[in-house]
Amino acid sequence: MSKQKTVYLADYLPYSHLVDSVDLTFRLHPTATRVLARLRLRPNPDRKDRDHLRLDGEGLRLISCTLDGQPITPTIDPRSLTIAAHELPHGPFTLETEVEIAPEGNTALEGLYMSNGMYCTQCEAEGFRKITWYPDRPDVMSRFKVRIESDMPVLLSNGNPAGQGPGWAEWDDPWPKPAYLFALVAGDLRAHSAKFVTASGRPVDLNIWVRPGDEDRCAYAMDSLIRAMRWDEQVYGREYDLDVFNIVAVDDFNMGAMENKGLNIFNSRYVLASPETATDDDYARIEAIIAHEYFHNWTGNRITCRDWFQLCLKEGLTVFRDHQFSGDMRSAAVRRIEDVVTLRSRQFREDDGPLAHPVRPESFVEINNFYTATVYEKGAEVIGMLKSLVGDQAYKRALDLYFDRHDGDAATIEDWLKVFEDVTGRDLSQFKLWYTEAGTPRLKVTDDWKDGVYTLTFTQANPPTPGQPEKHPKVIPIKIGLLNPNGDEVVPTIMLEMTRTRQSFRFDGLAAKPVPSILRGFSAPVVLERKAPAEERAFLLAHDTDPFNKWEAGRALAKEVLADMVLKAAPVSANWMDAVAAVTFDETLDPAFRALCLRLPGEDDIAQTIHGMGRIPDPAKIHAARREMAGALAIRLGDGLSRLYKDLDDNAPFSPSSAQAGRRALKIAALGLLSRRDRGKLASSAFARARSMTEEIGALAALLDVQQGQGELVTFAARWGRDANVMDKWYALQVAYADPAEAHSVAERLISTPGFDWKNPNRFRAVIGALAANHAGFHHRSGGGYRTVADWLLKLDPLNPQTAARVSTAFETWPRYDAARRKRARAELERMLATPGLSGDLQEMVERMLAAGN
Ligand code: BES
Ligand code: ZN
Repeated sequence: MSKQKTVYLADYLPYSHLVDSVDLTFRLHPTATRVLARLRLRPNPDRKDRDHLRLDGEGLRLISCTLDGQPITPTIDPRSLTIAAHELPHGPFTLETEVEIAPEGNTALEGLYMSNGMYCTQCEAEGFRKITWYPDRPDVMSRFKVRIESDMPVLLSNGNPAGQGPGWAEWDDPWPKPAYLFALVAGDLRAHSAKFVTASGRPVDLNIWVRPGDEDRCAYAMDSLIRAMRWDEQVYGREYDLDVFNIVAVDDFNMGAMENKGLNIFNSRYVLASPETATDDDYARIEAIIAHEYFHNWTGNRITCRDWFQLCLKEGLTVFRDHQFSGDMRSAAVRRIEDVVTLRSRQFREDDGPLAHPVRPESFVEINNFYTATVYEKGAEVIGMLKSLVGDQAYKRALDLYFDRHDGDAATIEDWLKVFEDVTGRDLSQFKLWYTEAGTPRLKVTDDWKDGVYTLTFTQANPPTPGQPEKHPKVIPIKIGLLNPNGDEVVPTIMLEMTRTRQSFRFDGLAAKPVPSILRGFSAPVVLERKAPAEERAFLLAHDTDPFNKWEAGRALAKEVLADMVLKAAPVSANWMDAVAAVTFDETLDPAFRALCLRLPGEDDIAQTIHGMGRIPDPAKIHAARREMAGALAIRLGDGLSRLYKDLDDNAPFSPSSAQAGRRALKIAALGLLSRRDRGKLASSAFARARSMTEEIGALAALLDVQQGQGELVTFAARWGRDANVMDKWYALQVAYADPAEAHSVAERLISTPGFDWKNPNRFRAVIGALAANHAGFHHRSGGGYRTVADWLLKLDPLNPQTAARVSTAFETWPRYDAARRKRARAELERMLATPGLSGDLQEMVERMLAAGN
């Protein structure tokens, strides 16, 4: 039984009132902050009934309340403040409240809280109600003015600066916004600043605010911001719309970053970078997240969501935009492959288990639990499909119409699809199923060659998901190409549009039976089931002109080989090793691409594949098979591997460029394999000579992977002990590479070390998140992995329910495994559920996961 109520999309009603303006005054104090709010309200003309006024509020101590200057005594309960209809004027009125809150004790990191002595806020989705009484819903948009009183040197809020003096500052945001975009920061901060002039000539001051001493680690974030601002002008015709754009880095943050209007707040790990402290992956992530939050200024802020069911309207679209941006900044092919790897490991996994839900859910208990891979990643894929179906030109026109028609609106998925319908004349009702039905479609394909006609026949199956037993056929854009047996492309990429359960497509005029390259660019988020001989996969890995499918051929082959190794004790396939060797040593290919081809499928991915075959995955066997595969490949690659490593180990001065990062990725992949042959000798010297964090971490990982590196761990900690973001890597690596039987005790030892700040979400995830990601360790038959994760979720939950609930998704795959493991996992889930005082956040997750299996 849930403490909180279920909210349904079908119950949507506009709010009773409009809020014309909000004036907020903050008198900051760690344990007794006063918040004065003056709201100018009037009845909503769209609501015919005359309703009471109900404002959201949680954990607020009321000091005073007046209506048009007269003191009143509203009805207050733990979640709201209500004024009866008969007490309200018919026309506009002013409501003033004063409340007291205690940011210092706020460990949930939602609302106003303190991190390392600074004040900051996180309001999305429903945190503003922990600051003051307000209609905390995205369709109530208002103009905010803010006055901050504090002796902190830097006082920031949304919009443009409107005055400041000793101990105070005022901010004025001219753009109406929902409360979830409100932000305030106060602290002893230093700025890394730059200027930007928009396409139409508006000068903008850009500042990245950090703790004193971190100013010299902001250059890459600033550079990314400037590139993102230019890109949005050039590609989407969207300009920035305020005089200042501020970014603040904070150490305690539940998420990655937040797009508050004019004042983005970031987890410091996604801002601060220098070659010595940040890996190439960190650089790429910083670039993507800076862009993502900036892009929200149009897709999210200027056009926001009517209600939280429409979350994908802003998140799916903004993820799609940040993927486009990263693709333009770096190798588009490499980015696409990496995005699909993430999609499969996070979203396909979610879609295949008890937490499966549609891109646009129809009900929720705790909205924070719906910031999921499905809403984000699949939400972005759905937009990619839409773009493929209507074409690039129509996509552009539809987006122009969207910005034009809905600027200033709180919009819906219906509004979004309507602009595409209006621009193209297409009926998108079947396409809309991608938003309303959960589950990953399975696409089967067979081919036939007869009398010079080549036929591809596709069948789609849409598996049932919790609460959705019946599914409908989807519109699936299938991009394909055909190669002749010499490897020449005879049919370049075309798009087939599948709309029915079973459909065939014919190709005439071919001289010989072609080799099909199907689902190029991963044109739809489906599981492609094609029985292809290993020779065909190897042929495509060698010859496909589509870089995604070239990689995919190798990946599909690797998964098949691994499944055979696990299920049939088959040997490592020579076919696969030969094909990978050819790519690895092909100097004409991008090093980043070659590095991707050398990366083996992850253990959870292999488990997902085996489960998809209707078999029960054995984590220990998967772990062993994957290691065996890497060991065999290391030997097969012979002396060429050492030569490759030496060639890549140059002395060029460091640059975070994607070209250099690609060379480093290949070098480190080679080092990892070489370690298996020399038990870490080369990795040990690579560690000693490392000139960047990428090399340092790469070498350390290679060592830990072969049970070496204890000395290097000590050296690393001595060098980086005072840098929390760097030390997170140190913690995570030890858990990630721990022997499966010991992973949980390694995690337990690290997290229990005196001085380990496990209340910091980054730290918690570095250890407990890493344990959950150590597939064979988490699912170890002893049950130790399950127990340790559950223990720590229960410790964190009373302090920070949001992060506890997110990390609990470690258990979402439990129904996949054997009876003994299921029994242990279920026992841990039941133990959590039975814990008195469990948060609503964690309770909802555990209940949904338990509902799945037995
Ligand atoms: N709006 C979100 C941040 C957010 C998420 C706030 C959940 C409250 C609850 C932000 O735009 C976002 O999506 N951040 C992502 C990173 C992004 C690059 C996908 C995050 O924080 O993980
Ligand atoms: Zn976002």
